[in-house]
Amino acid sequence: PQVTFSDDNSRVTAVLPTGESLEVLLYGATVISWKDGAGDEKLWLSDAAKLDGTKAVRGGIPLVFPVFGTAPDHAQTSKLPQHGFARTSRWEFLGKSTSESESAGGAKAAASSSSSKATAAAADQSVKLDFGLSSANLDDKTRALWPFAFSLIYGVTLNRDSLTTSLVVTNDDDKPFDCQVLLHTYLRVEDISNVSITGLDGASYVDKVDGAKTKTQSSGAVQITGETDRVYTPAAAPSAPVVVVEGGRAGFSVTRDSLGDVVVWNPWADKAAAMADFAPADGFRRMVCVEAGSVADFQTLEPGDAFEGAQTIAIGSRAAAA
Ligand code: BG6
Repeated sequence: PQVTFSDDNSRVTAVLPTGESLEVLLYGATVISWKDGAGDEKLWLSDAAKLDGTKAVRGGIPLVFPVFGTAPDHAQTSKLPQHGFARTSRWEFLGKSTSESESAGGAKAAASSSSSKATAAAADQSVKLDFGLSSANLDDKTRALWPFAFSLIYGVTLNRDSLTTSLVVTNDDDKPFDCQVLLHTYLRVEDISNVSITGLDGASYVDKVDGAKTKTQSSGAVQITGETDRVYTPAAAPSAPVVVVEGGRAGFSVTRDSLGDVVVWNPWADKAAAMADFAPADGFRRMVCVEAGSVADFQTLEPGDAFEGAQTIAIGSRAAAA
């Protein structure tokens, strides 16, 4: 059995032989669907999300670059719209690659039945889709808002029990530029009132609901009981996974590579109602954004330098083992 693909010039989909699937819009290189082998959706996508390229997608995994929120006081990024332009630009699909790894189950089965070639071949397949965006792809208007030569490569890897997304930013200019990056993941949960988020204990955070005036130290697991918009900066090392626990069971485990900050966001009822593209109205009970990024400060990239950041979201038993 092979990985199957489709690419209709506006979205790319991939399905593993074991049933897991992935759907990515070229608009924003936004992951809009990630399903497990049972066909259960792992990401939250608004019923009213615009998928036609007229507005950033409300749900899935929008990409934030080169600014998180708005930065009116930061000269280089002061003209940019909220969360920058990567999520509202059309990306190029660069290609796909598949790989195989023997699963633990497969290895065990093979060992217990040396005569069965078919069992020994029970390897897990994974697929990686690559997307690119560079200053050359931008329209003049957008380029004028942030006049730097850059390139982005975004890799989305679907494994049987996890999704990895990684972003490489390269400065192709002859002057340095400052940037922020964030993977704005909307995770789907059954009921937000049963959710707690671990792995942020002791991390300092700024609370954007309070106007980000103070730095607070978090204590214990995070529960979402109202509008929540926090930028956590956990201790640099060791980088513990951030685990979304639901009803006592680990649902997702997010591990980060070079992305030092974690934003936890839920708009709750009033803010959700104020967003034209947020539906259903009580959809905030079915989602939580856990966003891995580098946003508390700006990264300065020198000419020719590159920055790479990644997250892996593991589901089910792997998350429980974390
Ligand atoms: C979060 C921010 O990352 O994104 C919030 O911390 C913001 O402040 C949210 O409201 C959604 O942003 P947008 O632009 O997609 O509505």
